[in-house]
Amino acid sequence: MVNFDQVPERTGTRSVKWDLLKSIYGSEEVLPMWVADMDIAVPEAIKKALVDRAEHGIFGYTVTDKAISQSVTGWLKKRHGWDIKPSWLLYSPGVITSLHMAVQVLTEKNDKIMIQTPVYPPFYDLVQLHDRELVKSPLKLQDNRYEIDFAAFESALKQGVKAFILCNPHNPVGRVWTEEELRKIGELCLKHDVLIFSDEIHADLVYPNHRHIPIASLSDEINQITITCMSPTKSFNLAGLQVSYLITPDNQKRKKIDEFFHMQGIKMINTMGITALEAAYNEGEEWLEQLLHLLDGNRKLVEKAFQDRDEITVIPAEGTYLIWLDCRSLNMSQDELKTFMQEEAKVGLNDGSSFGKEGEGFMRINIACPRVTVEEGLNRILTALDVRKN
Ligand SMILES: Cc1ncc(COP(=O)(O)O)c(C=O)c1O
Repeated sequence: MVNFDQVPERTGTRSVKWDLLKSIYGSEEVLPMWVADMDIAVPEAIKKALVDRAEHGIFGYTVTDKAISQSVTGWLKKRHGWDIKPSWLLYSPGVITSLHMAVQVLTEKNDKIMIQTPVYPPFYDLVQLHDRELVKSPLKLQDNRYEIDFAAFESALKQGVKAFILCNPHNPVGRVWTEEELRKIGELCLKHDVLIFSDEIHADLVYPNHRHIPIASLSDEINQITITCMSPTKSFNLAGLQVSYLITPDNQKRKKIDEFFHMQGIKMINTMGITALEAAYNEGEEWLEQLLHLLDGNRKLVEKAFQDRDEITVIPAEGTYLIWLDCRSLNMSQDELKTFMQEEAKVGLNDGSSFGKEGEGFMRINIACPRVTVEEGLNRILTALDVRKN
């Protein structure tokens, strides 16, 4: 059994989450439960692979060879039942990098690109930084679960949308889209001639009774219009190693994206990233299962902590280690809510409004940490709520 109880010391490691506390939250006393990485060490097999590679002492230009592709194709088959050809793959330093490339290569200035809000903040930049027009199709919160309003989804697509950026599993609302939902999305995109850029970085982080389905795996037709972006960095806590890949069976689209990578001077992935990816996919499955067990327990703890409180409602997560907290009953402005969390509760959460205006009144908490850290964070919030009440 992996021991996930140890609380690592991350301060002083140039950690975005821990070393920027003062500049972001104004105090080092704040417990950071924000940016999406984990306070959990990688599997021993990854550590060993990296140490062995480091021992070699030479870090020259490195190739992503057949063995790496086999690790990826093997993982997708084993974990997601998706059979892809190695030739469909392109490697990239990050999922967001891939999406920036896809937007620039496969859409044109002033094209309309659709996102489902609230959503991971960089999705807005993907559209707006490239002078594309943002089309929002807000998710609908119904009975404490976010749903797609397909009538609104289709009427938004009908405005002449060129591409739709899907987030599956969805950050921050925690939905793992079902086969039925994904089929509808795929069919509507085919019908209205819309490309799908599918961010599936959280694919491996799915809770019991839910299954991640790569949208491109649903049919040949959907596959042809989809660019899928994936990575082991969320599942295995490798974000600092900057490794990911994109998948498309369409040779023309893939060639154009590949050429564009070259035009930016991006030709290869860093040696350590490739080494970690291979170890994760070839030797990390058992560790991942145990991690999912820990995360499942952590998410239940969050749900339980607030089940009898009227101030905060937890949106149950089906996937990801990011939990969306509905704090609207506190009747605070967004600034008051942020101040309450960081100054009274002393927890560093993500501001819900950074995910779009639909996120106002919400906060996002990251539960990818040892159980005691989640307990500490919850305790801080509950105590601060009690203090306010009295
Ligand atoms: C939905 C989503 N996409 C992409 C990323 C970042 O991916 P990368 O670091 O590979 O660019 C994150 C990180 O939190 C994310 O939640």
